[in-house]
Order: sequence, then C-alpha cells, then structure tokens
Amino acid sequence: MKREKIKDILGRQVAGGGLTAAGWVRSARLSPNVAFIDLTDGSTAGGLQIVLSPETKNFELMERVHTGCSVLVEGELVDSPGKGQKYELQATSLALLGEADPEQYPIQKKKHTMEFLRTKAHLRVRTNTFAAVFRLRSHLSQGIHHFFRNRGFFYVHAPLITTSDCEGAGQMFQVKAPGEQEFFGKPAWLTVSGQLEAELLALGLGEVYTFGPTFRAENSNTPRHLSEFWMVEPEMAFYELSDNMDLAEEFIKSLLSYMLNNDLEDLEFMQRWYRKGLLEQLEKIIERPFERLSYTEATKQLSASGKNFEFPTEWGNDIQTEHERYLSEEKVGGPVIIHDYPAKIKPFYMRLGDDGQTVGAMDVLLPGIGEIIGGSQREERYDVLLARIRKQGLDEAAYQWFLDTRRFGTVPHSGFGLGLERMLLFLSGMANIRDVIPFPRTPGNAEF
Ligand code: 4AD
Ligand code: MG
Repeated sequence: MKREKIKDILGRQVAGGGLTAAGWVRSARLSPNVAFIDLTDGSTAGGLQIVLSPETKNFELMERVHTGCSVLVEGELVDSPGKGQKYELQATSLALLGEADPEQYPIQKKKHTMEFLRTKAHLRVRTNTFAAVFRLRSHLSQGIHHFFRNRGFFYVHAPLITTSDCEGAGQMFQVKAPGEQEFFGKPAWLTVSGQLEAELLALGLGEVYTFGPTFRAENSNTPRHLSEFWMVEPEMAFYELSDNMDLAEEFIKSLLSYMLNNDLEDLEFMQRWYRKGLLEQLEKIIERPFERLSYTEATKQLSASGKNFEFPTEWGNDIQTEHERYLSEEKVGGPVIIHDYPAKIKPFYMRLGDDGQTVGAMDVLLPGIGEIIGGSQREERYDVLLARIRKQGLDEAAYQWFLDTRRFGTVPHSGFGLGLERMLLFLSGMANIRDVIPFPRTPGNAEF
C-alpha cells in the first residue's frame, strides 16, 4: 500500500501535488457540506488535517468514521487557511480500512488515567502521550548505539539464561523445563545483568557494551522498579574508577544532546503536558560538570542535613532513595556521582580499596529519579577476588570461569549499567516506570 508518512508530509517545504495518506482517526467532524478528520499515523506528534466535501469520492462513509478508525485518503496538499496547521489535505477520495465502534472503542478523547490505560496496553500507543513516549524510547535506544559506535566500542550480546548470579542478591527468576531433570544440567536463571559476560569480552576486545533485557525477582512495587527492564552495560579494559565516572558523565550528557537533536518535538510535547521546564533542565545538565562525592562525604552531609530520614545515615548503611533524592534535588540541585562505598553493602566483583573497607563503586543520581547508573572498577587481582567470593559465601566452583580471567592476563577494568526505563522516566516526565515500557512486567502483572 503506497502512502506517504505524515511526518514527511508536514515537513514539506511547499504545498501542492497529489498524495495518499493513511492512519488512525484522532477525531472526526461531519456536517452536510464539509467534514474534517484529524489523522495520525504514529510517525510524528503532529496530525494531518483532512478536509472532505460531498465531491470527495465515498464521502458518505464519513457517517461511519469515528475516533480510532483507520482510513486511507487521497488528495491534494494545500496551505491551510485555519490556525494550528501549515497544510491540510483536500480529499479527493476516502477509504475506510477498519471501523471502530464509538460505543465500544475504549480510548476516548477525554483524559484517561494512566492506570486505566495500562489495562489497555494493546491500544494505548494510539494516544498522543504513549506514541510520544515510545518514539522517545526508540530514539534513546538509537542514541545509545550512536554514542558507543562513535567511540569504537563493540556491541556484544550477553546470554539471558545464566547459571551465575552477578549481583549476588538472590533476585533471580529460575528457568525450568518440563520434567524432573535440570535442563541445563544445573540450575539456571534469567540474568540480572550481563556484566560478568561483558567483562570477559572486554578482556579481549577492549571496550564493549551490552544492551538488552534483564530480570529481577525483587518484590518492589515502586514507580521505579520493573521485573523486566532494559539495561545498557559498557565494560572497558584499562579504565580505572575515575575514567569510568568520566565516561558515565559523558554518556548521559551525550544522550540528552542526542534526544534534543533528534526528537525535540516529542520532548516539547512532554514538557507541555507532563514536566514544566524539561528542556531547560536537560540543557543545564549538559552544560555543567556533575558533582562528585565520596560515600563518606555523602553520609556526613546526610547526617548534617537536619532531615528526618526514615533510614539511618551512619557510615555503613546503604544510601536509600530518600537520601539520593535529598542529595541530587536539595543539596546539589543536579546530577551527583557517589563513589567508594563500604565493601560490605556491595557485590563481590568490585575492587577493594587500599583501606580494606571500601570498594571502587559509583552510582550516578539524577534529580527526580535517584539512581540512574550503578557501576564500579572491577577487582582484577585473583587472590583478592577469590577472598571476596569466599567471604560472601558464594560457590567458588561456579565462578571458576570468571576467576580464570584474572589468572591469565588480568588488567584493571571498569564498567557500569544504566537502566533504559529510568532514563526514559527522566526524559519524558512520566511518573511511573510502567508507562515508559510497552508491556510492563511487575509483581502480580504480566498481561499481554
Ligand atoms: O545498580 P545495578 O543493579 O547494577 C548492575 O546490575 C551492574 N551489574 C551494572 C554494571 O556494572 N554493569 O543496576 C544498574 C541500573 C540501575 O542504576 C538502574 O538504573 C537500573 O539498572 N535498574 C532498574 N531499572 C528498573 N527496574 C529495576 N528493578 C532496576 N534495577 C536496576
Ligand atoms: Mg545499583
């Protein structure tokens, strides 16, 4: 079916010429001598205004054209005399591809709640909001590849089915096949992170990244947690913690610039309806250096804040969402990188500091979101890594392959993970992470 995308039609330099457009009706108005359709095809936030008259072939079909119908229209593109659009399509013929009974079509013009739209995840992409969010999601994914390709990183694929726990937090979904036998000869899980495999590949290719779905069986019913989410994980040989922090900062700034350059229209839409001042906030983040604070300094500032936090702020406790938000929103008013955390609250693979108490971990916090990136310099010393594995009570035999990379030609290396949906929450101004992924999976919910 030959048709022109509405994005291209609206982007034309001048009007004129016959063309065919197809899409879904956002709204339709019919009077005896004239009719209007506001048409979208998903390609852009703007709609194409279609003007029909009794001379239009199949004009009588307008009786059955309602919000949600799909149509194909042939016509002539002319300058629009009306306000709000540059061009309109004067229809010479109309075809009704798919009807949508106005009594039954669930997506009405009135404002629906996000909760209601989640129950219609198969239709919510027809709304202006979700179409914008999913276009942003596509651009963000491409921006990620763009960043790493420009820096000569290789895109590698980590397995989704794994037999080792990366984060050591016991939050893994088990993978089972019918029958009693272990399908893989031993217990297997859905991966929580592609990091361990990415480390292996970096210790041969130099600079790599993975980008794919990861799974966490934590029972967190919050607006920032999903059971299935997408993570991008760069891993770099010959990077120390400060190099890792530099890359993380550059990465975030580059993604924001990419979005402003490639999908300004949808950002403007989100700013208008969901987050005042969004564009200015993005530009500020691009311009200024990120604040860097050691964990020790951060806990001092938290204790001195005079705030009545729910969780303790003494050295040795994990930094909770409320603390992250205080630091990035109130104390700094921008992104913050916290580094060098207590070893006992972090996974086994992070590099032990000279003090024997801290590890070379870093978290990047964003205002309104909290943790967007978690990363570290990796423990590259065989003996120290083995001791950490033992100390955390992990099965040493299961990590032999990982230890081998430290037995043969080990080098200092680092990496981090950025949650795609958290970034999208930040960019879109949406309030709940379930509304930035097409089909959210959370405790108690895996519909569609
Ligand atoms: O801090 P995390 O757990 O780090 C890792 O998994 C490391 N192995 C990454 C690495 O060094 N290669 O997760 C990284 C990021 C978090 O900062 C957050 O943005 C996101 O992944 N994330 C989640 N996003 C949505 N739902 C969840 N349940 C998430 N858990 C983590
Ligand atoms: Mg983390």
